[in-house]
Amino acid sequence: MTDFKKSVVYQIYPKSFYDSNGDGLGDLKGVTEKLPYLQRLGVDVLWLTPFYVSPQRDNGYDVADYCQIDPRFGSMEDFQGLVAKAKEMGMEVMLDMVFNHSSDAHPWFQKALGGDPCYQDFYIFKKGSKEKPPTNWLSKFGGSAWAYVEALGAYYLHLFDVSQPDLNWDNPRLRNAIYQVVNFWIDQGVRGFRLDVVNLISKPQEFLDDPEEDGRRFYTDGPQIHTFLKELNRETFGKHPNMITVGEMSSTTIDNCIKYSNPDEKELSMVFNFHHLKVDYRDGDKWSLMDFDFLALKNILNDWQVGMEQGNGWNAVFWCNHDQPRVVSRFGNDRQYHRESAKMLATAIHLLRGTPYIYQGEELGMTNPYFSRLEEYNDVESINHYHILRKQGKGEKEVMEILQRKSRDNSRTPMHWNDGPNGGFTEGIPWLAVAKNYREINAKKALEDADSVFYHYQKLISLRRELEIIAYGGYRPILANHPEIYAYIRAYQGNLLLVINNFYDKAPRISLPQAIKLNNYHTQVLISNYPASPDLQRKITLRPYESIAYYLEKKR
Ligand code: GLC
Repeated sequence: MTDFKKSVVYQIYPKSFYDSNGDGLGDLKGVTEKLPYLQRLGVDVLWLTPFYVSPQRDNGYDVADYCQIDPRFGSMEDFQGLVAKAKEMGMEVMLDMVFNHSSDAHPWFQKALGGDPCYQDFYIFKKGSKEKPPTNWLSKFGGSAWAYVEALGAYYLHLFDVSQPDLNWDNPRLRNAIYQVVNFWIDQGVRGFRLDVVNLISKPQEFLDDPEEDGRRFYTDGPQIHTFLKELNRETFGKHPNMITVGEMSSTTIDNCIKYSNPDEKELSMVFNFHHLKVDYRDGDKWSLMDFDFLALKNILNDWQVGMEQGNGWNAVFWCNHDQPRVVSRFGNDRQYHRESAKMLATAIHLLRGTPYIYQGEELGMTNPYFSRLEEYNDVESINHYHILRKQGKGEKEVMEILQRKSRDNSRTPMHWNDGPNGGFTEGIPWLAVAKNYREINAKKALEDADSVFYHYQKLISLRRELEIIAYGGYRPILANHPEIYAYIRAYQGNLLLVINNFYDKAPRISLPQAIKLNNYHTQVLISNYPASPDLQRKITLRPYESIAYYLEKKR
């Protein structure tokens, strides 16, 4: 596989990607059928979210058997077929590993509930009385993080849904069982892993109340986290060359992320952090309505770019995944400037220092679906929060608007393949409704239109292969305080890449810093989102949502 710094990862949510058998759920065969589309886009690695045996309380992030495929998604043979075909076409498969917790239906947990002390030690049980949970910690999906088991007179910890009990990584037997799972999938030809909320796996020795927050300070980037990741690396993927690993890091810090991803530490290839995706949370509360804070967004991106570079860490760079609303609806303009803003956002993220991740449908500019009834939602977090918000006294209309903007189902609606029924996703009844705009926004139409968002992504991907500056260049912010423009410079071997993105429908005139000596370079427009972009000059007037990347090649 090519260097992960030169790779682009494409995230597939199999349940919503393509249904090959008409049962309304996407499946592995469906992914295999669509490989030519992904090859055409040009991506290197396919990250598949969980398709293991699961009660699907949290859409597969509640795993009941880590080494078996849920028959709804297909068979082991289907999976092997997918891996082999992908390799043939120049793509590798990355799997999603959920090891902070299992499903409560996992045999380990069932044995624990049955009273087996050995398996109770796979989880975090604490004795207590029904009236008082061990601590005041809150679950990330709402309510207490502790569930009481009458028969055992004890609580178990669940940082997510009550059906997702947290695993006890302090137990070496549990760790060993996990390493076997990872090695099993490596033997199946998997070449990458995405580790779900992996910075939450190390819990403190003592469980204390959190007077100010929900308890996250005690287990986020917890006491043994780096030791555990080093051991995981040593026992599994570290033994194989060319593995690509990414940790999903919840509420983390730059310092920890440097450690997670600096190659000398031998932990992971790279990290996801989410700070830049909280700029539309009012006082940190996701379930609120707020326009995004553009300056905060820029500051966070700049801090992470600069900080990670200084520590030789590596970011996964992304706007979208299966937990986030669609970016064109969030930071772009999904009505008047759909195409321009979708392309601008693509350029802004792909030319950063880091490995870009594309979430299925992002390359078409898929939007939020704007569901208007609670019954249209499926996601456990959204439904829990609907009830929490209503109990707080918020009106139906306001709560539905919050879900329209914040629900994880915004990104989970089926992929739009064509303008036929259900966007060509299924011949049956889709498990989640298809967004209504599939007639205008779909893969077939995009492939027929040379100016589509799809081809913009394709170009960004191929530029990464052609120009080393994109993968290896240093990063420097410019125009840091500009209220509409996000701009930066990449630098490598004397050449520069200048990336200018207008995040609004205004037409600001900017002046480039004098430090950039334009006369020293041959300049060219590398990629832009309007038919004719101006040549590089000191002063430039941007059009609405315009984005231009200039390549400045040093005169020698
Ligand atoms: C991660 C996943 C999310 C899941 C949660 C619990 O954040 O991306 O979908 O619900 O972990 O596993």
